[in-house]
Amino acid sequence: MTPTLTTPPAFPRAVRIAGTGAYAPERALTNRDLEKIVNTTDEWIVTRTGMRERRIAAPEQATSDLGSEAALRALADAGVAPEEVQLLLVATITPDYPFPNTGCLVQRRIGAKNAFCMSIEAACSGFVYGLETARHYIAGGAVDTALVIGAEKMSSILDWRDRSTCVLFGDGAGAAVLKPARRGRGIIASVLGSDGALSELLYVPAGGSRKPASAETVAAGEHFLRMNGREVFKHAVTNMVRAARTALHRAGLTPADVRWIIPHQANLRIIGAIAERLEIPEERFVINVARYGNTSGASVGLALDEAARDGRLRDGDIVMMLVFGGGFTWGATLIEWEKTS
Ligand SMILES: CC(C)(COP(=O)(O)OP(=O)(O)OC[C@H]1O[C@@H](n2cnc3c(N)ncnc32)[C@H](O)[C@@H]1OP(=O)(O)O)[C@@H](O)C(=O)NCCC(=O)NCCS
Repeated sequence: MTPTLTTPPAFPRAVRIAGTGAYAPERALTNRDLEKIVNTTDEWIVTRTGMRERRIAAPEQATSDLGSEAALRALADAGVAPEEVQLLLVATITPDYPFPNTGCLVQRRIGAKNAFCMSIEAACSGFVYGLETARHYIAGGAVDTALVIGAEKMSSILDWRDRSTCVLFGDGAGAAVLKPARRGRGIIASVLGSDGALSELLYVPAGGSRKPASAETVAAGEHFLRMNGREVFKHAVTNMVRAARTALHRAGLTPADVRWIIPHQANLRIIGAIAERLEIPEERFVINVARYGNTSGASVGLALDEAARDGRLRDGDIVMMLVFGGGFTWGATLIEWEKTS
């Protein structure tokens, strides 16, 4: 399927990432811990997914709490005060409440009182969807400073009796502050796409307006995430590779020009298949799936912050963020890294 949203040829104002932040809850749940909960093994999880542990939020922590921590760290990194934020966007599929949107709850917590706030529901693609949305507001001149947060408490929608899903996900948050670029090209090209025909391959059946929560839906575990892993795997590889190629083509770049790929951390085998097809060595992929599992909308933000802080990302590097998630949704964003002033 052809990606539906692409970068217009002449963008009025280039947009850069001016700061990043991340937060992962303290409690680590290892594969050995999971062996005690469901019928699984460390060996199965490692060979099928590359995951070794994931973080689990405390019972009193909600998604907005995780997101607020990451947001404050990103603001500090960018040297931006909360009051300067004009647009605050939270990408999540595990909101604190059905409404109000989690953006408003983060706003209250961090004191971003001059921002307008919203949430984006694009599952594991949410962070890149958020970046692209915020970028348009800045590029068009509507705002100068945006805060994009991907935050998830996936543990709150997992069925801890279902070994095929509960071992795969974790909690966390990543954030980025967006500002107009100073010298470089900033975000060079983005490709976003969706395919609603396959929504039920990865979804939560109940708790929404189609099937409101009831004693029956809870008894049937329909408020938990359901996934056809094998099908999702195939679509993830195909669509991420296609999005990457399209974004590169639009930018007039080749895979060899990309210094770092920051993929959604769903499965090490998915990342390996993408690396092979794009003919980019796995060493140029930022990978932390072993430590965090799949944190859905938080995953790219978490990995981005890690690579930025440990010095892997240098000014001038071409970085590609690559995502796929429920919906289906997918996307690729190419950015010329320009953070230091
Ligand atoms: C979920 C996933 C790891 C499963 O790997 P797989 O190689 O496709 O495995 P299958 O689903 O075919 O299952 C193989 C067997 O392992 C079993 N199994 C599933 N989960 C298991 C677990 N945690 N421990 C042990 N065995 C398990 C299955 O029951 C199945 O057994 P069977 O053959 O007797 O029926 C893989 O499909 C995947 O990563 N898919 C993409 C998921 C994803 O990225 N989702 C988010 C997208 S944003």
